[in-house]
Amino acid sequence: MKHAFSRKKNISDLLERKKRTRLPQTLSGFDLIMLGLGAIVGTGIFILPGTVAATHAGPAISISFLIAAFVCCLAGMCYAEFSSKIPVTGSAYTYAYITFGELIAWLVGWALVLEYGLAVASVATGWSAYFNGLLQGFNLSIPQALSGPFNPADGTYINFPAMAIILILAFLLTRGLRESANINRIMVFIKIGIILLFILIGVFYVEPANWQPFIPFGFEGILSGAAIVFFAFLGFDAVSSAAEEVKKPQRNLPIGIIGSLFVCALLYMAVSFVLTGIVPFTDLNVSNPVSYAMQLVNQGWISGVISIGAIVGMTTVMLVMIYAGARLLFALSRDGLLPKFLIELNKFQTPAKGTWTFAIIVAIFAGFIPLAQLAELVNMGTLIAFSMVSIGIIALRKNKNLPTDGFQVPLYPVLPIVSFLACLFLISQLSVTTWIASFIWFILGIILYFLYGKNNSILN
Ligand code: ALA
Repeated sequence: MKHAFSRKKNISDLLERKKRTRLPQTLSGFDLIMLGLGAIVGTGIFILPGTVAATHAGPAISISFLIAAFVCCLAGMCYAEFSSKIPVTGSAYTYAYITFGELIAWLVGWALVLEYGLAVASVATGWSAYFNGLLQGFNLSIPQALSGPFNPADGTYINFPAMAIILILAFLLTRGLRESANINRIMVFIKIGIILLFILIGVFYVEPANWQPFIPFGFEGILSGAAIVFFAFLGFDAVSSAAEEVKKPQRNLPIGIIGSLFVCALLYMAVSFVLTGIVPFTDLNVSNPVSYAMQLVNQGWISGVISIGAIVGMTTVMLVMIYAGARLLFALSRDGLLPKFLIELNKFQTPAKGTWTFAIIVAIFAGFIPLAQLAELVNMGTLIAFSMVSIGIIALRKNKNLPTDGFQVPLYPVLPIVSFLACLFLISQLSVTTWIASFIWFILGIILYFLYGKNNSILN
C-alpha cells in the first residue's frame, strides 16, 4: 500500500475536476504580461539598485540584476512548461503534487503561502512609509500611534495604512478578475512610464567617471548582490497561478512569464546604469535612491513623481500577490488539504472567502509585526518552490499522458538541472536566521498536514 504522503495526483482526474469547479477564462497573453509586470515591478526597483550598489556590488549592480534575471528565466521556463501542459491553478504546488506526491506538494504550497503572505505584508509596510511621506508633502499626517507596527517604545501601535491597503485590494479582487485586471493595467502603465521617465531624464546627468571602479567589491559582491536583488524579480510565478483563467494557456502562459521577466530585466539594468552613473555608488545607501538621485540633479518635481510611481508599483505587487495567495488557498482547499469553505465562489465568480481569509491574516501581520528582518524569508519560500519546479520537469517529461504541443524547456535536461542548482546556490547565500525561521515554518506545516490534510485529502 502507498503511503499517504507519497500519493500523487492523476493528471486526467485533475483536468476533469477542473471542469467541475471552474473559473471563467478571460485573460490574454498581453493581460498576463501586464499581470506579470504588475506583480514584479514594485519595491525592489525603487530601493535595491541603490542600497545593494552601495553595500555589495558597486556600479556592477547591473550584473547582479542580470544574474538574478538569468536564474529567474531558467526557473521561469520550467514554470512555463508546467503551466502550459497543466493549466490548473495552484502553480508550483499543483506541479509538485503531480510529480512528487502529496507531502512535498503540501510543503511547496506551504512555502508559497509564506512567499505571497510575507511579500504582501512587507510591501504593505513599505507602501505605508511612502504613503506617509506623500501625505507629509501635503502637510497632512497620520497619528503616530497608527503609523507603525506594535512598538510602544516608539509610540506606534498599529500600521493602519498597511492594513487598510491590503483590505481595500482584497475587496477589489472579490469584485471579479476583469475589473482587477483593468485597474492593474492602468497602474502598470503609470509605474513603467515613471521608470522610463527616470531613465530618459537621468541619462543626461550620467558622469561616466562614477562607474569607476566598476567592480569595487569583487565577484563575490556581485553574487551576494544577486541573491538580494532576486527579490525584485519575484512575482512572475504568480502569472502561472492564473493558469485556469487564461485563454489558450499553452501559448499565452509562456508569453506572459518570459515576456514579463524580459521587460523587467531590461528596465532594472537600465535603471541601475543610470543611477550609478548619476550618483557615486558610495552615496546610494538611502531608502529612496531613485528619487534621491533626481533631487541631487535638481529635478525635484521628478523626484515627487517617482514617489507616486513607487506607491503605484507597490500597490500592483500587492494586488497580484493577494490574488496568487487566494488562488493557492483555493487549490489547497479543492484538494482537501485545507477546509472547504475556501473554494466557495461569490456572485462575481471569485473565491471571496479564500481571498478574505488570506488578506485578513496578512493584514494582521502587516499591521502589528515589524517585518524588516523577515523579508529574506520571502526569498527562501520562493527559491524552494523554484527548485522543486525545476527538478520537477524531469519527472514531468517521464509522464506520457500529457499533451505534447505545449511549451518545452530548451536544452533538456541540462537547463532544468542548472536551474535547480542555481536556486540551491542562491538559497545557500541566505542568512542563518532565515534558515532557522523557515525551519520553524516547515515544522508547523508538517504538523498541520498530519492533523488535517492527510485525513481530509480527496485522494484519501
Ligand atoms: N518583485 C516585487 C518587488 O520588487 C516583490 O516589489
